[in-house]
Amino acid sequence: AAPEVVTATGKPTGAPGTARAQSGAFLTTSTGARLHDTDHSLKAGDRGPTLLQDHHLREKITHFDHERIPERVVHARGTGAHGVFRSYGTAAGVTAAGFLADGVETPVFVRFSTVLGSRGSADTVRDTRGFAVKFYTDEGTFDLVGNNIPVFFIQDGIKFPDVVHAAKPHPDREIPQAQSAHDTFWDFVSLHTEAQHHTMWNMSDRGIQASYRTMEGFGVHTFRLVDDDGGTTLVKFHWKPKAGVHSLVWEEAQLAAGGDPDFHRRDLADAIEAGHLPEWELGIQTFPDTPEQTFEGIDLLDPTKLVPEELAPVQAIGLLTLTANPTNFFAETEQVAFHVGNLVRGIDVTNDPLLQARLFSYVDTQLTRLGGPNFNQIPVNRAQAPVNDMLRDGYHQHAVHSGVAPYRPNSLDGGCPFHAGAQDRPFVEVPAVVEESTKVRAQARSFDDHYTQTRLFYRSMSAVEMDHIKGAYAFELAKCYEQAVKERQLQCLANIDEDLCAAVSDALGLPAPDPTIALEDVEPSAALSQVGRTFPAE
Ligand code: HEM
Repeated sequence: AAPEVVTATGKPTGAPGTARAQSGAFLTTSTGARLHDTDHSLKAGDRGPTLLQDHHLREKITHFDHERIPERVVHARGTGAHGVFRSYGTAAGVTAAGFLADGVETPVFVRFSTVLGSRGSADTVRDTRGFAVKFYTDEGTFDLVGNNIPVFFIQDGIKFPDVVHAAKPHPDREIPQAQSAHDTFWDFVSLHTEAQHHTMWNMSDRGIQASYRTMEGFGVHTFRLVDDDGGTTLVKFHWKPKAGVHSLVWEEAQLAAGGDPDFHRRDLADAIEAGHLPEWELGIQTFPDTPEQTFEGIDLLDPTKLVPEELAPVQAIGLLTLTANPTNFFAETEQVAFHVGNLVRGIDVTNDPLLQARLFSYVDTQLTRLGGPNFNQIPVNRAQAPVNDMLRDGYHQHAVHSGVAPYRPNSLDGGCPFHAGAQDRPFVEVPAVVEESTKVRAQARSFDDHYTQTRLFYRSMSAVEMDHIKGAYAFELAKCYEQAVKERQLQCLANIDEDLCAAVSDALGLPAPDPTIALEDVEPSAALSQVGRTFPAE
């Protein structure tokens, strides 16, 4: 028989019984010795010095000293919940994913977050919000790690450290906390103008959502669904809240940040506890998987672009219901580890250069954040599907692997040959064609238009929403110390909408730049990508 592999199985929750902590009638040491006193250290006389011999004191203090782990490098502030996803089966024609077959119920863990603030920052600040869902499917864990805004700041993951450095507090004064009201943020987005679209969404009411329960979610990138015959369809994922999309107004957001910094966290937990279970429909926009990977002229590999729902309607494929609060915040919400590479049969990635970098980044950061390579054995991260991997040892190894030959195929562990392709329903990468190409540091020309969709979004707003956007730009830009940064951002607004630019310029007491200025004069990132093309191939 195949060697038994004792790995991570069982309930991915902190429910009683899944951890051996806090059982039994007596207070004990971590190794189970019963204690008779945990309030007094061992001393040489009741007024004398404490003895080094006091192993209980040292264990208690030492463990406390190491209670903190690093917060996430982004999305540090968040809150989580357990739930269930019930599939409608409407995607079964385009994907082999078992959990998307008709009527299948899959347990999930969801973590919502802000992006920029530290772990203790306020919930209602102007920011993008994370919407990360872990599906514990029978065929392995699928993570849909999305945001509440359908586009992203940058087109290539190599700029991710740069945009985060620009948006996090300044390195000298460590201010501001979790707001886009500072020089480096506006310096970045006015120089890397691909960020203007995401920034416009941030300045809109979407940047100050009323609650997590009334927030949309987006997978952002284009993904590839694969059916049982290997047929492929390109898709974008959407979460639609059943309770509708709602935002705060700026004054409410500021009051809430002061009066109740836990505003969103409390709202979600209270709603679930009261039985008002939040619901979202998962939907997909589908596009033919053509060699160009464009749809109606929109490059589907450019994460700063969306596909308007008028052009590709969102089709509902299942219902997510959040059903239970975590038992322990640290064990579950803090230790959950999402990864865009946690894919299952029937769902694959595309060449979007932002997604490609993410495939590397998540596991890499979790190696540090969660203290080594075995974080998928932490209860909240455990797969519900059987796990039989050849990963061995490492810090915090909980599995007791049997056998002598941790490789496949082998002839020593009682058979269990492993032949590629022999398994039932394996995950197979789509055999996509990589065209004959030269190694370059460059990007497609189809990524160069940074303004059309930004303008489209702004002009789709109602008059009240436009006023909110004007007010947001004026408030945030007024916080900049550098005049040149404000002027450069006004130049970008001039390219987006003349009326918006005039209103913000006026509020800042600066002249409105000439809206007819030639694009190449104000679009450094497009200019840079031109320069990139002249570099010799590496
Ligand atoms: C964390 C979304 C781009 C690196 C997160 C989280 C979300 C998210 C929702 C929080 C996960 C949680 O709750 O634990 C997105 C979206 C992106 C994007 C939608 C673009 C469309 C990127 C890129 C990188 C990156 C380009 C790096 C190249 C990270 C890292 C974390 C993180 C390192 C912290 C993970 C952890 O410590 O567990 N992201 N992200 N993200 N993201 Fe992204």
